[in-house]
Amino acid sequence: MKKNILITGGAGFIGSHVVRRFVNKYPDYQIINLDALTYAGNLANLADLESCQNYEFHKVDITNATEVEKIFQSKKIDSVIHLAAESHVDRSISNPLEFVMTNVVGTVILLNAFKAFGNIESGRFYHVSTDEVYGTLGDEGKFTETTPYSPNSPYSASKASSDHFVRAYGETYHLPFVISNCSNNYGSHQFPEKLIPLMIHNIKNNKPLPVYGKGENVRDWLWVNDHAAAIDVVFHHGKLSETYNIGGNNEWKNIDLVKKLCEIMDRKLGRTKGDSEKLITYVTDRAGHDFRYAIDASKLETELGWTPSVNFDQGFERTIDWYLENEEWLTNVTSGNYQLYYQKMYENRETL
Ligand code: NAD
Ligand code: TYD
Repeated sequence: MKKNILITGGAGFIGSHVVRRFVNKYPDYQIINLDALTYAGNLANLADLESCQNYEFHKVDITNATEVEKIFQSKKIDSVIHLAAESHVDRSISNPLEFVMTNVVGTVILLNAFKAFGNIESGRFYHVSTDEVYGTLGDEGKFTETTPYSPNSPYSASKASSDHFVRAYGETYHLPFVISNCSNNYGSHQFPEKLIPLMIHNIKNNKPLPVYGKGENVRDWLWVNDHAAAIDVVFHHGKLSETYNIGGNNEWKNIDLVKKLCEIMDRKLGRTKGDSEKLITYVTDRAGHDFRYAIDASKLETELGWTPSVNFDQGFERTIDWYLENEEWLTNVTSGNYQLYYQKMYENRETL
């Protein structure tokens, strides 16, 4: 019998990579993609899967308990891979409640549905989470699976809360679960509100490149396909009730990353070296801006044998090429509401 695997948020950035990987690699799974298609969800990300027999899409908001239960009642769900979320820190600063609704309430609604109707005997509830739940680091050290939670943004507080609910359902109701906490992803199909696609879009259009504060904050970057591969491994081989950190061992100061991007874009666009860098504009910092994230992924590497498949140069070139080759995708997602978002978020930031 085919196993029914419910993936939430499958029309988003990371979700679409996970859905594609699972549909192509596991013909014996029926992949059920549940997504509300918010501004971040885009069925164009999955157009190539439309005719696949083992794939189906349902437009469902995970905060709607009735709709969620209907899906769980209509087919036995063996396992859930839960990615649906509000995911952008800046938006969480403007509208924290939306993050509580989707990330906390939505997660609890899914947990309830899985507990009532899912295959809790041999399936699992996999919560895909972020390293931001651990808070911020100074110059030294890395997050491990035992680092205490200390979220600083409304986004990370909502993800920390949903991690806690998942763990609490494990303890209280013996719900089988696994959690992973991953660092910043980059790759194709990322909505251009996040640093890398936003900068690519602005460089292409000769618009200012808004670097927050002094650009000295540090992020660890992982290619999205390698995150999808890690999710595959944790889903199939991760021990129940455990957490796995996922990272790229690839730390960059924001300003260095943006300068590297400018250099590559100059080359690819046939511009004179140094042209794009002139667009860099230091602007008012993000409120509560976490200084540094870094991940110790040795548990995943030693216990489950996962390592990233590409180095940063390879993944970054492929990513930039994808955005340059998929102009229509970028144009579609940056028309309409994106303009309003951009104005609201960047118009009032002071140039430093
Ligand atoms: P994204 O914003 O690109 O996509 C989120 C998806 O969830 C969209 O398809 C959206 O339509 C859907 N969604 C939002 N609200 C919903 C709701 N109420 N009901 C149903 N669907 C809804 O996000 P992403 O960057 O792909 O992140 C996916 C997951 O991975 C999130 O849980 C995020 O916290 C986590 N994560 C992201 C990163 C990263 O660097 N982007 C890193 C670590 C963990
Ligand atoms: P982002 O892609 O929003 O991811 P996160 O906040 O989850 O790490 O931002 C990555 C880093 O880039 C973060 O330190 C904030 C910074 N940043 C800018 O400097 N300018 C921007 O316009 C954006 C969106 C982010």
